Amino acid sequence: MVRLHEPTFGADEINAALDCLLSTMVTMGMKNRSFEALFANTHGFAETVMVNSGSSANLLALAALANPATEGALRPGDEVIVPALSWSTTVWPIIQMGLVPVVVDIHPATLNIDPDAIECAIGPRTRGLMIVPLYGNPCAMDAIVDLCQRHNLVLIEDCCEALGASYKGVPLGRFGRVATFSFYFSHHITTLEGGICGTSDGDLAETMRILRAHGWIREVKEPERWTRLHPEIDERFLFVNLGYNLRPTELQGAMGALQLPKLPGFVETRRANAAFLRSGLSRFGEMLRFQDETPGAVHSWFTFPVMLARGAPFTIGEIRAALKDAGIETRPVICGNIARQPGLHLYPHRTVGDLRHASEVMDHAFSFGCHHAIDDAARNHILGAFDGFMKRYGFK
Ligand SMILES: Cc1ncc(COP(=O)(O)O)c(C=O)c1O
Repeated sequence: MVRLHEPTFGADEINAALDCLLSTMVTMGMKNRSFEALFANTHGFAETVMVNSGSSANLLALAALANPATEGALRPGDEVIVPALSWSTTVWPIIQMGLVPVVVDIHPATLNIDPDAIECAIGPRTRGLMIVPLYGNPCAMDAIVDLCQRHNLVLIEDCCEALGASYKGVPLGRFGRVATFSFYFSHHITTLEGGICGTSDGDLAETMRILRAHGWIREVKEPERWTRLHPEIDERFLFVNLGYNLRPTELQGAMGALQLPKLPGFVETRRANAAFLRSGLSRFGEMLRFQDETPGAVHSWFTFPVMLARGAPFTIGEIRAALKDAGIETRPVICGNIARQPGLHLYPHRTVGDLRHASEVMDHAFSFGCHHAIDDAARNHILGAFDGFMKRYGFK
């Protein structure tokens, strides 16, 4: 079997989690704080806020940006541009905050949001841009940062599938006001479930710490900002804003601290796998298309996407079935075109253009594993399965 994913954790992480259980210190505490500090150091963030999933990180980032405590907060009815190839919980938090997602097309070569399409989508109520570096392929950040500055847009980087990727030497997540990452089981590294927000904005981070847990101030860095205003209220039960409970457990912090140092090695293997697959499959270039790495970027290859070229004599279903018979798991590319998912149609949104490149990916593409556990034998098995399938159509 070549599965979409294999676990990135082993005995070390399990023992660290067991230590937490045995100590009975299981709720968010020291180990989460150390992991936040480690992640901040390795990525160059001034502030990080760990949560219980990447989806929660997106929710928390949007909730903080739309909170009245935030200067220049996004207001209900404001628009946030998103790529058509987004994850569901990239877009849902925008709606949950009363904002309006504006869906624009991707570039067919990189599969990332197309800066020209963003420019065409900007209207009088557009205030934000939320990008998704698809499968770890950095977006065209020079163009994106430039247009955010020119149009005064808040940039949110959903890097939930882009850990370990960088653009011109800068880790992804450092270009916008806030960035989010996921440590779900099948991601580059894992805390089983888990996520984190990174930002250089200290006030936004404090708001995220408040909203993360109940609206209280227990985890903020400077509680006196609030306690001196309300000396009559017990500071452990001082609620200064609304809030959720998006906290990770201490076990997740302990596992994360052991996983993060392994990330560079995992990404190196993913990149070697992608290079091998790209070169081995390139002779079928008339039938198959591949994702181009953005110039100046380091792609971290969450999975390996394959698109059928126009005129291919087989369907996506046929090639996926052949790979399945060979024990190779495949899946559609992210959510496909999010504007075609029924959930979006229950809520106000705007689409720009016909989104044909994203639809093409939804209808004529799939992806398969490119992860740290794919070795020489697995790589050759994948190429062999493609060879066998192509032979049926006369390709050698
Ligand atoms: C782009 C993107 N955003 C958000 C998420 C949500 O992350 P999680 O599964 O940790 O909630 C994912 C999940 O894969 C994702 O791909």
